[in-house]
Amino acid sequence: MQLKHLISKTCVKCSTEYPADSNIMTCPNCGIEGILDFQYDYEYVKKQWKPFLHSYPGEDVFRFSLLYPLDPHGEKPRMQVGPSPLVRAPRLEKKMNLQGIFLKDDGRLPSASFKDRASIVAIADALSRKKQLITAASTGNAASSLACLCAAQGIKTVIFVPASAPPAKLSQLLTFGARVFAVEGTYDDAFELSLQAAKHFNWYSRSTAVNPVLSEGKKSGIFELYYQLEANDFPDHIFVSVGDGCIVGALAKGLLELKELGMINSIPHLNGVQSTGSQVIYQAWKQGREQIEPVAATTRADSISVAFPRDHIKAIRNLKKCGGSFMTVEDEEVFEAGYVLGCNTGIFAEPAAAAAFAGLLKRHSRGEIGSTQKAAVFITGSGLKDVAGAAKAASTSIRLNKGPQVLETVGEALSDWI
Ligand SMILES: Cc1ncc(COP(=O)(O)O)c(C=O)c1O
Ligand SMILES: [Zn+2]
Repeated sequence: MQLKHLISKTCVKCSTEYPADSNIMTCPNCGIEGILDFQYDYEYVKKQWKPFLHSYPGEDVFRFSLLYPLDPHGEKPRMQVGPSPLVRAPRLEKKMNLQGIFLKDDGRLPSASFKDRASIVAIADALSRKKQLITAASTGNAASSLACLCAAQGIKTVIFVPASAPPAKLSQLLTFGARVFAVEGTYDDAFELSLQAAKHFNWYSRSTAVNPVLSEGKKSGIFELYYQLEANDFPDHIFVSVGDGCIVGALAKGLLELKELGMINSIPHLNGVQSTGSQVIYQAWKQGREQIEPVAATTRADSISVAFPRDHIKAIRNLKKCGGSFMTVEDEEVFEAGYVLGCNTGIFAEPAAAAAFAGLLKRHSRGEIGSTQKAAVFITGSGLKDVAGAAKAASTSIRLNKGPQVLETVGEALSDWI
């Protein structure tokens, strides 16, 4: 069906345009690297945006359907995704002498990560194509998000993970009833196999970057931020962590669209934060190229540990278009940031999410963010996803032996703290 708000989908490599509703996921000329990008009729969207938003009977991410490659009136999945809370951090604002610090707590989405924004739109797309089974390769948040939202829907999920995947990461998947295949090999082998299986069995694929619907769904993070803050309070800086580059590329596109629709006059500085132990996109961006040179990843922040970032072109191109920049932080800075965030705001972030906050702390400590400025940080995943990693910089518990002196010991241990 031809949808009025959509024009086409275009290959990021060779610029060939395809009908927006065609079944191809990547460009047939360029193969797996031919990631597609949707184009919208912004004049049409501009006219319809407010009436649609006001008539939409909810607050979830589908109120922004005019900027997704879907029929805005089509069937919606059962699970509600969004809005996630936007938490203000007055104690941090005071300590850091900043005008505003806003934390977009996506750890409180249904499966506890930002990935729900993409999965829910992919499920709506799968429903419109009458698909009964969705596959993905991942050991982390993308797969658990898919399995969670599909469990609510009654859609089956098949997940391919590398055999080395830690058991803790599998428990969410297995509890949501996913069929999980442990592939002898690397994450890249699992990724390749999931693509082959999708093709062979005609399954719907929720593979990062390769399915272009995913980055469209992720734009809802920016749209929610806009409506939670209103234009006047929109931040000067936005921070988000970067692995494959899909989230940052999507947030950048969302910002460009807000500008295109006349909702903001200037675009905040979008900061894409990588770990020094996984900085392939940062290196390419620094050297002014879109091509990447894959390097084995060593960061302990597992969700952003990526050797071959799949969505690097959209990430680098879109960030450049909106005038943002990439940066890196050390793992120690990530752990420390998770602790500072927890103590001052009550938000428990997994290391990959704390990396974004570490980016804010770093730029602030360098004097690059001034006292009149406001910053928003996307907290993309809950610390409950990786409890050991999340608590790495926190203090340890104090051991007590039962006995007559026990309360004295408690008092002494707290004497310089209370
Ligand atoms: C918690 C969290 N933060 C950040 C990211 C980075 O997103 P992307 O790989 O799209 O750059 C991920 C991806 O898995 C994630 O799970
Ligand atoms: Zn192409």
